[in-house]
Amino acid sequence: MNRRQFLRAGTGAAAGMLLLKPRIAFGYQANSAVRLGLLGCGGRGTAVANSFSQSTSAQVVALADLFADQLAAGRSHFDQLNTSLGRAPIDSKLLFRGPHAFEQLAASQDVDLIQISTPPFFHVQHLEAAVASGKHVYCEKPVAIDVSQGRQAQEIAKRVKPGQSVDIGFQCRNAPPIAAIAERIKAGALGKIASVEGHYNASAVKDRSNSHASRDEYRLRNWLWDRALSGDIIVEQNIHIIDLCNWLLGARPLKAAATGGRNILTHAGDCWDNYQVDFTYPEDIHLSFSSTQFGEYKAFEAGLKLFGASGSATVPYSGPVRITGAQAWEWQDSASTAPGSGQFAANGSFSDNLAFADRDKERTFIDSITTGNTHNQIDAGVESALSCMMGRMAGYQRREVTWEELLAHGETYHLGFDLGQFT
Ligand SMILES: NC(=O)c1ccc[n+]([C@@H]2O[C@H](COP(=O)([O-])OP(=O)(O)OC[C@H]3O[C@@H](n4cnc5c(N)ncnc54)[C@H](O)[C@@H]3O)[C@@H](O)[C@H]2O)c1
Repeated sequence: MNRRQFLRAGTGAAAGMLLLKPRIAFGYQANSAVRLGLLGCGGRGTAVANSFSQSTSAQVVALADLFADQLAAGRSHFDQLNTSLGRAPIDSKLLFRGPHAFEQLAASQDVDLIQISTPPFFHVQHLEAAVASGKHVYCEKPVAIDVSQGRQAQEIAKRVKPGQSVDIGFQCRNAPPIAAIAERIKAGALGKIASVEGHYNASAVKDRSNSHASRDEYRLRNWLWDRALSGDIIVEQNIHIIDLCNWLLGARPLKAAATGGRNILTHAGDCWDNYQVDFTYPEDIHLSFSSTQFGEYKAFEAGLKLFGASGSATVPYSGPVRITGAQAWEWQDSASTAPGSGQFAANGSFSDNLAFADRDKERTFIDSITTGNTHNQIDAGVESALSCMMGRMAGYQRREVTWEELLAHGETYHLGFDLGQFT
């Protein structure tokens, strides 16, 4: 029995593990922990790898990053975490640094699962190497930042092998209140849908570079400000809400008309600070979407409202999750939400309705590995990314853009510098 078969045979990841006595649970972990290699030791990567470590049988055994300081911070963090969980610290030979770190991690025989948490521009390149290695892959959203990357990702999706599991980081779908209301909406609780309203308003990100950074390093450290590295706010951040809308409607938008711009942000990047997009879905259902990144205030709100013939649904990150009308319903289980003040969390670890989104996302993914009921979420991830790119193109060109036009345009973004300088 090889390691992959052994992992599959050792069923019942997180939920089952909790039922085992500690001694047996430790034995299970020691024999069959999914060995995780984290690529990109930043805010989100650390939060998700923490969640894997604490909520599943996965164990962080390897780290990779472009920058030495990020790798060192990751090592110190995960050595402490592993020690607190009774696990070994990270072996020095499983620390990879530089522009080829992703290839070295992919080549390692000591890793079962690669978690890709690098800036969006690199996701497709890193996904390609990780999928080719035959390892399981957890890749952050957005899978792609332009159409040609989206096409590449679709080709990579075809190369996912049987027994290999690939998830994309849309954890909001796994938040218990959101999963519960989605089930009702999909079962027709609202009747025929008339329209949808969505929004994502959040504070802007501060400068994250050090004063000695070269121009290229400055861009890399502040990738959230940079169109090529991030895909702009609609593709990088607002994608969570547009992905939820696609999922709830069971469709992708056919076309988009948009406007927006950069009215208040003065940082060095070229991302916009606001978008207003009218997405048209099949059956002439419109999603009226708006987003703004504004200053450094604490105010934050993101969510969707759906209006139907027999009711409406409110699906916010924070606040009541409910259906009004003929099939009125409200999420009541406070054990599955953690009260917060509705504040923005740059690492995606939100409180309130999303409090357990990561935990449940990670558990479901590890279960897919240990049971052999594998996932391949790349195509769905590309569809959500392309939906956002269509809104972005409509905004930049200030006109209506159809799905076909987006694909025919084949937009391609370039980094404009050589990563080799960071060897
Ligand atoms: N799902 C969510 O809710 C959520 C929340 C926040 C961020 N994210 C996503 O997670 C990803 C990472 O975001 P973050 O906030 O952690 O960013 P970050 O800047 O904090 O971390 C990125 C890390 O990647 C490293 N890196 C950069 N280029 C690299 C390369 N070519 N090879 C190897 N390492 C490289 C950086 O040094 C840094 O350590 C992004 O795709 C972002 O969109 C998702």
